[in-house]
Amino acid sequence: MEAVKWNGDSVTILDQRLLPSKEEYNTYTDYFEVAEAIITMETRGAPAIGITAGMGIALGAKKMKVSNFSAFKDEMNKIFECFSNTRPTAVNLFWTINRMKKILSEMNNIEEAVKRFEDEAVLILKEDIEANKQMGKNGSKFIQDGDIIMTHCNAGALATGGYGTALGVIRAAVEEGKKIEVFACETRPYLQGARLTTWELLKDNIPVTLITDNMSGFFMKNGTIKKIIVGADRIAKNGDTANKIGTYTHSVLAKEHNIPFYVAAPVSTLDPQTESGDKIVIEYRSIDEVAYIKNVQIAPEGVKILNPSFDVTPAENISAIITEKGVIEKPAGKGIMELFN
Ligand code: MRU
Repeated sequence: MEAVKWNGDSVTILDQRLLPSKEEYNTYTDYFEVAEAIITMETRGAPAIGITAGMGIALGAKKMKVSNFSAFKDEMNKIFECFSNTRPTAVNLFWTINRMKKILSEMNNIEEAVKRFEDEAVLILKEDIEANKQMGKNGSKFIQDGDIIMTHCNAGALATGGYGTALGVIRAAVEEGKKIEVFACETRPYLQGARLTTWELLKDNIPVTLITDNMSGFFMKNGTIKKIIVGADRIAKNGDTANKIGTYTHSVLAKEHNIPFYVAAPVSTLDPQTESGDKIVIEYRSIDEVAYIKNVQIAPEGVKILNPSFDVTPAENISAIITEKGVIEKPAGKGIMELFN
């Protein structure tokens, strides 16, 4: 299962809007279409957004027709700007753009720059898959045989280069022979849990049960859910973590019921530039995502609707942040800087 693929002169993207009904891939030859695919959530998930942007930038560089390096540089800066304006919350996007900006600053020859962008895009994908596998190994120690683990949104192969972050930890535990079961929250309004997490876990024969978001407290209180593991879109310096809307609510309930709450994310999701969660920009998406389910209007015309796409879980509610570089247990008061030293 590949969410996004580089073909040398085009980018192929699995259209996640159509899952689970249809598994369809679109191939793009223009960087602008790749940026559009991020905006419209044809592809989504913090690491996958970063990877896709890398490929889109490489594509833009490759297709560009300019006669001198100064014009090339100007056009590249426009491409960076275009991708910066796709989605604001997942820091992996800006992490990729900064890697590409650094390359541009080191170049003075178009052909060489085009080659470096392409190599970097391919490397970002490769590094992400390796990071997920290592994250899985680092996190599986928290999972015991017989556990029922709840997750929110989709932090799996579909949201990354492959294998997944939160689902990567689950996959690693399964590979170690642990018998576990996943409870997937449906994740209103975009239904990443119902449509994507269940789809990819079923494909891998990992036992999964779908619940609606508002059932999580019921299953925590009655002792069914033993652990919670989620991904992240941006982890601030103090460990506060932005993830899909609804994550914060689960974390508060987990605290109430003494259920360990883990965040799994690659280092590309850590943002030491942002001091704390209240500084993280939260994307608000179209109210149609709330008013409609699969083109069926479920709310009265004209009703006021809000649609924040992410919320912030304070570090105090997090038992451990699992990365490929290591695990930060009880991040409250410590933050993330130990992983950069
Ligand atoms: O709006 P989305 O689907 O891009 O949001 C995705 C999430 O919130 C994921 O949990 C997060 O990006 C981690 S993906 C490994």
